[in-house]
Amino acid sequence: MLLSLPGAERAARQFVAGETLAQAVEVVRALQVKGMVATLDHLGENVTSLEQARAARDEYLEVLDEIVRYKLRATISVKLSQLGMDLSESECRKNLRGLVERACEIGDFVEVDMEGSTYTEKTLEIITDLHRDHAAVGAVIQAYLYRSEDDVKRLIRHGVSVRLCKGAYNEPSSLAFPNKADVDANYLRLMHMLLESRLYHRIATHDPRMIAETQRAADELGLMKNQFEFQMLHGVNRPLQEQLVRDGYRLRVYVPFGRAWFPYFMRRLAERPANMWFALRGIVGSVR
Ligand code: FDA
Repeated sequence: MLLSLPGAERAARQFVAGETLAQAVEVVRALQVKGMVATLDHLGENVTSLEQARAARDEYLEVLDEIVRYKLRATISVKLSQLGMDLSESECRKNLRGLVERACEIGDFVEVDMEGSTYTEKTLEIITDLHRDHAAVGAVIQAYLYRSEDDVKRLIRHGVSVRLCKGAYNEPSSLAFPNKADVDANYLRLMHMLLESRLYHRIATHDPRMIAETQRAADELGLMKNQFEFQMLHGVNRPLQEQLVRDGYRLRVYVPFGRAWFPYFMRRLAERPANMWFALRGIVGSVR
């Protein structure tokens, strides 16, 4: 049986807002009606020329313009490999700075996604350097990495806002906890450190246990519900997203869009067998 790309595309639509910025704006506006906020990810990673990297920066500048135009309650999420990190660190820094400066002007915020472990150190260096001039930039920490506890301490010291996630890339056991139970335990340890810092942080997970423990920790620390936020991916566990809003928490939905959806879609399939079955049904269903 042949697999069809249109079938895969249809399956990817569960997780991706669409190929165009206009489609993503519609999704964000619909989320706002439900009391949710968003972060917009223009899909694309590992560009192969500096022109492509500059074009990616310009596309994100357009996203920021649309945020202003439609008064969207949305940040942007960017990947440094998309801004030219593999080609020229200085150009990548320049591209990111351009986005953060524009975000500052309009009162917005840039969340720098974390990619595979070969990028971790440079990404954190670039963010902490830029953060000295502009507070409107935040980092992502992956709980599966052994190094993350030290990185959290370092980011708190610099006053950088952190999105905490479990981690979505294939990492060797020399760098990352191979067992899920250890990743979860580290997630909770790092979550406590972040909340105790009383900086504004972003708890990104669909895991009901991580969420319940975060709520408990915030209560114990006397944090208000607007002193941190939960984040989830577009299309994942919508009932839980709605429940958090009903309970008065801030919920930011990560809304990816664009034509380069394939690697993002593959990461979503890899992290959950149920997603794989859902996708296969869509793909096989499209074979005539
Ligand atoms: P995990 O995958 O362990 O799942 C735990 C439980 O959550 C499941 O047992 C189930 O109950 C529930 N659940 C999970 N998926 C579900 C689904 N599809 N439907 C229903 N329930 C589900 N990674 C990275 O490396 N760099 C990054 O920059 C980011 N950025 C990012 C932003 C945001 C907003 C989110 C939510 C996630 C990321 N990630 C990421 C991805 C992250 O690292 C991780 O791969 C996924 O979030 C899956 O991990 P969970 O914490 O959801 O738990």
